[in-house]
Amino acid sequence: NSKYQIAVLAGDYIGPEIMASGLQVLKTVSENTDFDYEISEVPFGGQAIDQTNDPLPDATLETCQNSDAILLAAIGGPKWDGVEKSPESGLLRIRQELGLFTNIRPTIINSTMKSFSPIKITEPIDFVIVRELTSGIYFGQPREKSQTQAIDTMRYSSEEIRRVAKVAFDMAMQRNKHVTLVDKANVLATSKLWREVVIDVAREYPEVKYDTSYVDSAAMKIISKPGQFDVILTENLFGDILSDEAAQITGSLGTIPSMSKGEVSPALYEPIHGSAPDIAGKGIANPLSMIKSVAMMLQYSFGRMDLAKQIMTAVDKSVDKKIVTPDLGGDYSTTKVTEFIVDSIKESRKEYVTK
Ligand code: NAD
Ligand code: IPM
Ligand code: MN
Repeated sequence: NSKYQIAVLAGDYIGPEIMASGLQVLKTVSENTDFDYEISEVPFGGQAIDQTNDPLPDATLETCQNSDAILLAAIGGPKWDGVEKSPESGLLRIRQELGLFTNIRPTIINSTMKSFSPIKITEPIDFVIVRELTSGIYFGQPREKSQTQAIDTMRYSSEEIRRVAKVAFDMAMQRNKHVTLVDKANVLATSKLWREVVIDVAREYPEVKYDTSYVDSAAMKIISKPGQFDVILTENLFGDILSDEAAQITGSLGTIPSMSKGEVSPALYEPIHGSAPDIAGKGIANPLSMIKSVAMMLQYSFGRMDLAKQIMTAVDKSVDKKIVTPDLGGDYSTTKVTEFIVDSIKESRKEYVTK
């Protein structure tokens, strides 16, 4: 069968709410095209713990491994706080099992988004954070905890650094040819190794401007001079923190999609935010992060820039007309925003067909 297989992991709290939006948009944009797909919805995270006591059941992992791409909404929440095999441990495991060592998190503020930013935007902002995703302090051993002491280990091998650095430089070649390595090389041994390896990779890309920034200072510059970044390359934990910070300068965490990829496995697309338990069930979750994750999937896993563009144009239109959820200051529901986007995709295709 020649249909693309897409694994769908809706997850917990607002997860299913925004996944419904993403799937509705995917259905609309692919209608009457030669983009043929089939989805397999599988349990993951807290939802899977409730069913099988395991956040990442074997069957779910297998479905993901056999798919062409994976869509994930969000997992976790208070219901499973303190559970030993937590939803979050399932998320870390799927990233590792699939070898998804690079996580790409874009921050774009164009003229339509500008008015939602909490900071004064004087120039277009367009940078990506390339976050290492399967190593560092998230995975390093030993990890131990007693009553009086706890240990986490930040460990990196030069090969783990090199492969993600190459992705960052390749990406820069397609963009504005500037890579900033963010680290804590004034303190951490791992950061010192990152600098040695990355400068080596940088030599292979003479056209790319390469510089470095300590993470504390980078956190400040994301607010004060976001326009100076193109590709931010960084390790796992710093990338986690900086990407939520960067998201907020677009106006809301609920607008940012991401792609996680490795060398062979299918890529995984997910919002960068979590399951937002505080707003779950209210019908007000911002669906843009999920809808834009679908667009990223169409572009990067399926080479369908045409379909991705239709989605992004419709998203822009909704933002431009301020058809937005409360996190962006609007009073539209998840469903209303989604309907608007679906309708404007349909509308634009009518124009396209009659042209
Ligand atoms: P969160 O990202 O879920 O929420 C932080 C804040 O942003 C909340 O106020 C929330 O309402 C808001 N927010 C997030 N997404 C939104 C959206 N689409 N629309 C509107 N508002 C949105 O972070 P948290 O509250 O610290 O974590 C909740 C749970 O999610 C935890 O269990 C955490 O471990 C998990 N988590 C999962 C993922 C993932 O699945 N990839 C990522 C981050 C956190
Ligand atoms: C993210 C999340 C995860 C991470 C958590 C839930 C394990 O915050 O995807 O950004 O830290 O990677
Ligand atoms: Mn995070």
